[in-house]
Parts: sequence; structure tokens; C-alpha cells
Amino acid sequence: MDRKFKRTLVTCALPYANGPVHIGHLAGVYVPADIYVRYLRMRGEDVLYVCGSDEHGVPITIKARQQGCTPQDIVDQYHRIIKDSFSGLGINFDIYGRTSSDVHDRNASGFFRKLYDEGKFVTRESEQYYDPEAKTFLADRYIVGTCPKCGAEGAYGDQCEKCGSTLSPEELINPKSKLSGAEPVKKKTTHWYLPLDQYEKWLSEWILDGHKEWRSNVYGQCKSWIDGGLQPRAVSRDLDWGVPVPVEGAEGKVLYVWFDAPIGYISNTQELLPQSWEKWWKSEDTKLVHFIGKDNIVFHCIVFPSMLKAYGDGYILPDNVPANEFLNLEGDKISTSKNWAVWAHEYIKDFPGKEDVIRYVLTANAPETKDNDFSWKDFQARNNSELVAIFGNFVNRAVVLTHKYFDGKVPACGELQDIDREALGEIPALRESLEKNIEGYHFREALKDAMSIARVGNKYISDTEPWKVAKTDMERTGTILNVCLQICADLAIAFEPFTPFAAERLRNMLGVSIFAGYDHRAGEQETVNTYKAGEGMAIHTVSASCEDAQCGVGTDESILTWSRLGDSDLLPAGHQLNQAELLFAKIEDEAINAQLSRLDAIRAEREAAAKAEAAKTVTPQKEECTFEDFQKMDIRTATVLEAERVPKTDKLLKLSIDTGIDKRTIVSGIAEFYSPEDMVGKQICILANLAPRKIRGIESRGMILMARQNDGKMRFITPAEVLSNGAEIG
Ligand code: MF3
Ligand code: ZN
Repeated sequence: MDRKFKRTLVTCALPYANGPVHIGHLAGVYVPADIYVRYLRMRGEDVLYVCGSDEHGVPITIKARQQGCTPQDIVDQYHRIIKDSFSGLGINFDIYGRTSSDVHDRNASGFFRKLYDEGKFVTRESEQYYDPEAKTFLADRYIVGTCPKCGAEGAYGDQCEKCGSTLSPEELINPKSKLSGAEPVKKKTTHWYLPLDQYEKWLSEWILDGHKEWRSNVYGQCKSWIDGGLQPRAVSRDLDWGVPVPVEGAEGKVLYVWFDAPIGYISNTQELLPQSWEKWWKSEDTKLVHFIGKDNIVFHCIVFPSMLKAYGDGYILPDNVPANEFLNLEGDKISTSKNWAVWAHEYIKDFPGKEDVIRYVLTANAPETKDNDFSWKDFQARNNSELVAIFGNFVNRAVVLTHKYFDGKVPACGELQDIDREALGEIPALRESLEKNIEGYHFREALKDAMSIARVGNKYISDTEPWKVAKTDMERTGTILNVCLQICADLAIAFEPFTPFAAERLRNMLGVSIFAGYDHRAGEQETVNTYKAGEGMAIHTVSASCEDAQCGVGTDESILTWSRLGDSDLLPAGHQLNQAELLFAKIEDEAINAQLSRLDAIRAEREAAAKAEAAKTVTPQKEECTFEDFQKMDIRTATVLEAERVPKTDKLLKLSIDTGIDKRTIVSGIAEFYSPEDMVGKQICILANLAPRKIRGIESRGMILMARQNDGKMRFITPAEVLSNGAEIG
């Protein structure tokens, strides 16, 4: 453990309160942070775990407008949903605050004011789009127009969702205000900027020289920002939702959301600990760790640290910023606006009692070094063949057999054989690796280590076959089960960070408690050590000052501590177990298929909408041609006499037609749209004098005229009423 520090402050990116959280958020930020915090706490470290809702920014105002309510209504609604989702998954912050709170308003405002008073900002005048009817400046998202790159309508001033191009509002063709529909005009406005260029050298020394140990994705992004040359960044906006700029003459201006949100970490700490918050933010003894997603790197590594540096007053900087890459869902990018996500609150509803499974799968597939994919089949497989078949199966066999042969009392451990020593001997190394991995923010690997302990147990019980030995040698059976139960107790410790609900069920079965550390949810009151009790046991709480964390621990044998992980006497002989209960249950195909159908429906809807949209657009007109050019073409009516598929092709029909001039064969690529029966007897139009071509060995003379819609749909052209064959068209 990091003895440089006395305490650890863990922050998780504040989710925007304009939508629920999904598995991408969980995998990227909250599950790894929770593993880290639970682990440190079990080790007796003093940890403060801070998060909250990010309740400002333009998208919230847009959502409010769409739903005909106020931005405050929106954030009230989602703050609740998000907060409940976290606690439903066992992610219990010491405080989950909100940036629309009074504390934050005062704090962010004061932060800006101090920098302003000390001349840490520069001001710049720029021209921004303004809605002359609504009499307000327009954020980029509030301007829509035609995309200059792909021609799609409804592109936003910052991005075209159709082709994905990043845009600036100036580039839009035919820009219109989303508020009034009016054409926006350019108007001068003044904003405050944080001159990041002045912090470049300092940032370079601090990060590029001083934090080479940061993850390569994080370090790499910082390096490319710094090497590219930093520019002053605007910290205010013309908007009516946010923290007002606390300066005379700044009416109609608020702090930029990325200026106020990270200050939210501090505000939320103050709200929880009004007296003692400073030791978490201003002491060199505190290790600050920001858990974020990769789109947040620049704000947490460059902008916020520069703000803190500018502010001075002893604020510490992050010791590490373990940012994850993105998680995809079934091969496609997760998207809130396209509803392509697995929502945390829906998961909790759809899979009650399986909170651990999602934690497990998202950790096993964590996008730590590259983007990764979540699929429901993989989710099912990991549950059924890892959690159920290995971890659950092992524990179940050990506990059930102990009840069967020893009345549920831990049997005595006789003389150990090599196979016993080997199994037990693997655990300390796994523990060491697990610790190294968690402390190095490699949670996926850490989970593998924990799972390896279960694998050791499962293999051991399969190899030693105590159910067979029981027929002849009860003493040996007892020794085997004793070893198994010690490994079960190891699992009850090692899995607490990853699958806390199952770890608790396991402790109930074993009749033990663990030392889970202490938290600060009670605020300023004296910190409380909590022991997570097994069933039928009292919950032990021991008051202790933070620095004296392990006080009172280790005296009671039924309390497991992290430091005892790997000991071979965690459960003394004679210790009474409780009844076996299911640790993990199999997930059946129905549950998975229900999720897949939901996603299929969303995909189908999206594709239909895209097609309908495409059908509306037309390809531009071709180059001019002369009347003579046109006259060269001999276009006539004809009737289809016979039709058949061209063998071994998907697209081709062979048609025999009466052109009025002759009977001939045409091969046409219309089988995608028409079956042979559809065509027989139909009057069509053909280009009769097209040079003959051999297609699949069949000579095709002429071409059927078809209309092609932009979504690819094709229809043959037929006269408004039946005419004689060979009628010339033109
Ligand atoms: N709301 C931001 C996002 O979801 C994260 C804000 S993190 C904070 O991307 F530091 F600004 F709070
Ligand atoms: Zn576009």
C-alpha cells in the first residue's frame, strides 16, 4: 500500500442528470471505482468516496424544452433515478451530491470570483450566433441546418449526427435557431478565458515528466494536448441555466458547465464534511484519484488541475486518473439518444438479485486498454460457466457436504497431504497478485486473480472427491472439507470488492463477518468501523479515529480481515455453518432472448427511420444532355411472357418479353424486388436498342426501366394503362 499517503479521496465523474446511467458508465467509471474503494476500506485505509449529479449544461436545457418542463424538473427526475441505480448495485458513495445545490452554487461562484479578482482570467470578445427573435445567444446545439459534409438536414451547430462530422455553427448551410426558427445573426459577446497556455510548462513537468506511470491512454492524450499547444479556454457561456457569473455586468452569463462541474467534487465534500473537508483537498497526505471515462481526460488532467493551480491555497492534484475506454453494446456504440444501451435502473428491475452479475461481467470485460464489447450471450456465459459453475458450485459442494457429514460444523484438519498443501499454497501468491493489480488499477486482472482462487477450490474438491472418501475415511473427508472451507472463507474476503452481495451471502453461509472498513456517510460524526456481519451475528461497530483504523480488529475469530486472506485457519474446527443457499443462479435463454429482442426492435426501428429519411432525399441531377443524345435511345413498351430465376444468383431474373418488334430475352437484376410470378403478364418499359450483353452465359437484349429510390427500393415503370407492345416512348 501507498505509505506516502494517509488517506485516499476517490471521485467518480459526476454523471449528467439528463438521462439514466447505462452499462458504459458503469464499466468505465463506477464499478472500477467501487472495487477500488471497497478494497482500500477492507485494508483499513481511510477513504472518502465522492460523486454526485452534474446538473448544468446545454443538453439539460434542450431536454427540458423538448419535454415542456424546467431544467430543474429534469435534473430532479434523473438525480433520483441515477442515485437509486448506484445504490441498487451496491455503489454507495459517502455523498452523492448535486451541482444545483446551494453549497455548490456558492462554492463555484466563489471559486470563479477569486480567480477573477486575482486576474487569473483573460477576457476576449468574439462573435457568436444570436437569435434576434428569442433575444438570446445560441449554444451550438441550438443551431440546426444542412450538413456541409453530407447534405443531411437537421445537423447541429457542433455535430452532424447523420455522418458524424464535427462541425462549427458557421459551417452549417441555412442555419436556423432551434428556439424560434429565425435565422441567427452574429453578435459580439465577451467571455472569460482560463489561459491554459500559461500552464503548459507546468503541466508538462507535472504530467509528462512526473506521471509516466499513468495509463498509456491517459498519458498519451495529455501528451498530445500539451504538445499541440494549449489555448485559452472559455469558462463562461451565454445561457440562462447554470451558476451565474458573479461579476458586475455579466447578466445572462453562467459558468461553463465544465468549469463548475469538477468544483462539484469539492462542494460535495464540503456538504458532507463542513468542518473537516479541507484535509481531503488540501493535505499532501491525501491521495486524490479521479475515476472517469476517456472523454473526460482533458478536463481532469489539464483543465481542472490548471484551475486548482491558479487558485492555489494548497489544493492537491490527482495522484492518478484511471480513465477507461468505451464499452460497446452488441457491436454498436452505446448511444443515449438512440436508446442503444442497457440502462442500470432497468437491469436492476429485469434481473433482481443479480446485481453482482453485471458488476462481474463489466469488470471481466472492462474497457481498460481498448474499447470493449458487451453482449448478452457473453453475459449469460460468464454467469453460467464462471460464477455458477466454478465459484457457486465449489462453495455449494463444500457447505452441503459439511452439513451432510459433520452437522454443519467445520471438521478438524488432520494431517495435510501434498494435494492439500498445494491448493492452500496457491492462495498467497494469488492474493499478492490481486493486491498489485487493484493498486495498479488493473481491475480486470484483479478479478481473474480472485476467480483463480475459486478455480483452485473447485479443482481441489473435484480432485479429492470427499463424497467418495466419505465411504471409507471420515477423518480424511474432514481434512478435505476443512481445506475447502478455508478456501470458501478466502473467497468471502477476496470477492467483497467485486461481488459484494454474493460475498455477503457466502459469509451468511459460513457464519462469519468481515472487516469492511469504515465510511463517512455519517458525515462529521466520529468515523465508524463497520463489520459486515453474517446471519445471526451482531453487527460490530467500533468507534475509532481514522488514523487508528484497525483498532479492535483481529480479536474476534469470526471476523475476517483482508490481512488474513490466505491463512489456513480462517474457520476454526467446530465452527457452526448456516444452511447452504444458492450463491449464483443460472440465467436461462428466455431472459437473454428478451433482452436481445428489445435491442432488435430498437435496431429495426432505427433502420426503418434511416431508410425513410434516405428515401426522402434525391440524388442530384446529372450532367446536361442534348436532344440528339436522348433521341438515340429506343424506349418502348413490352409485355413479360415468361420469367424465371437465373440459377445460383440472388438478384437476376431471366425474362422472355414481347417487344412488339420481336420476342427476346432480357436478364434483369430485379430478383431482390420481384419474384418471377410477379412479373409474368406485366407491361413494362424497356430500352430496346441497348447493345446486347452476355450475363451468366445468357444473351440479354435490352434493359428494363426501373425507378430507384434513395433507400435502394426499386420498382419497374409501367404505362398508366395497358398499351400495345412496341409503343415508342419519348
Ligand atoms: N458530466 C460529465 C460527463 O458525464 C462528467 C463531469 S465530471 C466533473 O461526461 F468532474 F466535471 F464533475
Ligand atoms: Zn453530415
